[in-house]
Amino acid sequence: MQSYTIIAPAKINLYLEILGDRPDGYHQLVMILQSIELADKIEISANGIDAIRLHCQYPEVPTDQSNLAYKAALLMKKEFPRDAANYGGVDISIEKHIPVAAGLAGGSSDCAAVLVGINLLWNLGLTVPELQRLAARLGSDIPFCISGGTAIATGRGEELAPLADLDHIWVVIAKYRSLAVSTAWAYNTYRQKFSSLYISGEKGFTKGNHRVHSGPLVQSIMVKDEKAICKLLHNDLEKVVLPEHSPVKHLRKVMTNIGGHGTMMSGSGPTVFTLCESQIQAETIKEQIATTIKDADLDLWVTKLCSHGIIVV
Ligand code: C5P
Repeated sequence: MQSYTIIAPAKINLYLEILGDRPDGYHQLVMILQSIELADKIEISANGIDAIRLHCQYPEVPTDQSNLAYKAALLMKKEFPRDAANYGGVDISIEKHIPVAAGLAGGSSDCAAVLVGINLLWNLGLTVPELQRLAARLGSDIPFCISGGTAIATGRGEELAPLADLDHIWVVIAKYRSLAVSTAWAYNTYRQKFSSLYISGEKGFTKGNHRVHSGPLVQSIMVKDEKAICKLLHNDLEKVVLPEHSPVKHLRKVMTNIGGHGTMMSGSGPTVFTLCESQIQAETIKEQIATTIKDADLDLWVTKLCSHGIIVV
């Protein structure tokens, strides 16, 4: 049976600005998304029977239709019924390295890997934009997970434009193992607290463009000015997640004080990251965070920004 091994990288948000509500119930965003080398490994193969079977080494990861990777296989089956009948179902095995509910798009990247894998298994010949259009039906950041690298994302997060690679920059990632934040909770709480500041309607978004502050960061990325990049990191969701989770607020403060150069929460959190100029600096900062906080529940990783999304090995 044909099978593929696929690397599904995590992402961090270098920038996340919430502009307002959209008619579809989502938020209008401006984000700068960045892939990192911390990645899950997906094996996908045709099983010759009419079944989608998902396996993961962690029992807490669901293996049914609530898993985005499973949803990806279901969507492909629905969209391409003749190919599904011809090739049969798929076995998907997820070797998890990306923490779940962490603001690192782990589930989204696994989902992106399954779309790419089935495209290959069933010889569908779909292009990256075609795969990304399918991906957008499953989640806002899944189109980015397919192409990855460094990109500006607008709309719900699915409209992408590539930026210059930052793959020479290292990063320390920190997350309390027992803490998970729901993305829906973070956005809904933000709406409750800040919707009076929202720009509303099509006209409002056009008129309100002056409130989009990502320009200087985009410019700094294009000229690879690391010091400026670190100063311009921004995440609106910190305003709701940090007050709710004091250990994360403390972690962010410790990481800022120890420095790297730029520290920020990723996505809806609770993961916090610090950008570093070298692996040695990142390893030193990781040790300093561990000795300052001394909590067995705190997981730390040293990894690197990377210039790719899903890759087939
Ligand atoms: O698109 P995705 O399913 O990943 O989004 C998860 C949740 O995050 C949504 O149900 C919504 O509550 C919130 N969200 C949002 N605006 C976006 C993206 C996500 O409000 N642009």
